[in-house]
This record gives sequence, C-alpha cells and structure tokens, in this order.
Amino acid sequence: MQFDLFDQAQNTVLAANSYEEFRKKFLEVGCTQCGLHEGRTHLVIDRGNPQTEILVIGEAPGEQEDLQGKAFVGRAGQLLDKIMASINLDTNKDMIIINVVKCRPPNNRAPVEAEAKTCRPYLNLQIELVKPKIILLLGATALKHMIPEKKNFSMEQEAGNFFIHPNYPGIQFMVLYHPAYLLYDPRKKESMWKHVKKLRDFLGLQKGKESKTFEPLNF
Ligand code: URA
Repeated sequence: MQFDLFDQAQNTVLAANSYEEFRKKFLEVGCTQCGLHEGRTHLVIDRGNPQTEILVIGEAPGEQEDLQGKAFVGRAGQLLDKIMASINLDTNKDMIIINVVKCRPPNNRAPVEAEAKTCRPYLNLQIELVKPKIILLLGATALKHMIPEKKNFSMEQEAGNFFIHPNYPGIQFMVLYHPAYLLYDPRKKESMWKHVKKLRDFLGLQKGKESKTFEPLNF
C-alpha cells in the first residue's frame, strides 16, 4: 500500500493492524482529504460486526447516518434490516455495512469519482482487515466504484448476479438493488426477494447446509 500520497493523519489510520485499531484511529484523527468533510457532523465508518464473512457496500451516508455516525440507520437502512431478516440475517451481527464514502455528500447526491477515489484507501483497508468471503454491492454507485471497468451497465441486468474478480481473490461478489431504490420503486421488492433467496441459498450451500425455507417478511 502506498502512503506517500496521503497526509500524516491518513497514514496513521491506514497503518492500523486490526479493525478495532482502524476504527479507533479514524475516529480520533478524522479525515479532511476531500471537500465532503466540510459538511459532515460525523464520520460514518460502518455498522455491524467486523468479525464476519459478509461485507456490504452502500453508497454514502445520508442525513440520519451523518447525525448518528452509523451506516444505514435511516429509512433505507431500516428496509435493509428487514430484507436481511427475511433470510435470517441480522445486520448488526451477521455482516458489516460500509459505504463508498464516509462523509455525507450535500443533498444526498451520489459521490463523485474524485471523492470515491480519495476515500478508497479506507475502504480497501476495511476489506483487508475484515477478510470477507462475500461482498454485497448495494446499487449502481457501489458497483461502479468497486468495479470501474464495468461500463454502461444497467442495474436491471446486474442485480441478483454473483461474480468474482481477479483483484479480490477468494471473495464472492453479489450485486443487489440499493434499498433506497426499493423505497422509490416498491415494485422492485419482488425481484429483491428473488435475489436475497439466491443469497440465502449461496450462504447455506457454503456452510454445507440444506437451504431452509423462510417465508418472506413483509419488507
Ligand atoms: N444509503 C447508503 O448508501 N448508505 C447509508 O449509510 C445510508 C443510506
């Protein structure tokens, strides 16, 4: 990892050897590497359990996340909790949820390329320290910034797909709709249910278990 491009504060955070140390240092020293820091109330590092095999990547903190300093705690986050509960996963215990950028963009706009790039070393370190077996990419922003060579894709085609990538050996990726999109277009919930059943079956198979039948919660 190259440290020379970053300032001392960022170096300190990026030198962390454990997830706990990373979190502690990041909260202590903060970050002023891009303009997003000017509007933030809190850095939003994550929510959930770093000792897990499932890492979820969303877009950026929204208003509630910025106020509370925790990822996915607003309306989209509550829907994500219900979606995951429908396949018996607890978002606080069974996964860790992070974002492409750690500070809220003005008016909840999507982060721009330069902001995502500047924040990327933190995300890379989170992946390195958590060592997930599966990464769930929520929505187009996460897919676009994680896999930049994917151009002109449509979420209709990508959502529900699994893939692997040579830059991330041993990690299975899956693309899902962003829950905020389901709030905007609830008709997509039916597809989301199909996709999370695929996820449930994948996780069950991985553990050598028969997949159980869960009834969908009303998400
Ligand atoms: N949407 C996101 O992408 N991330 C959050 O933390 C909240 C809403």
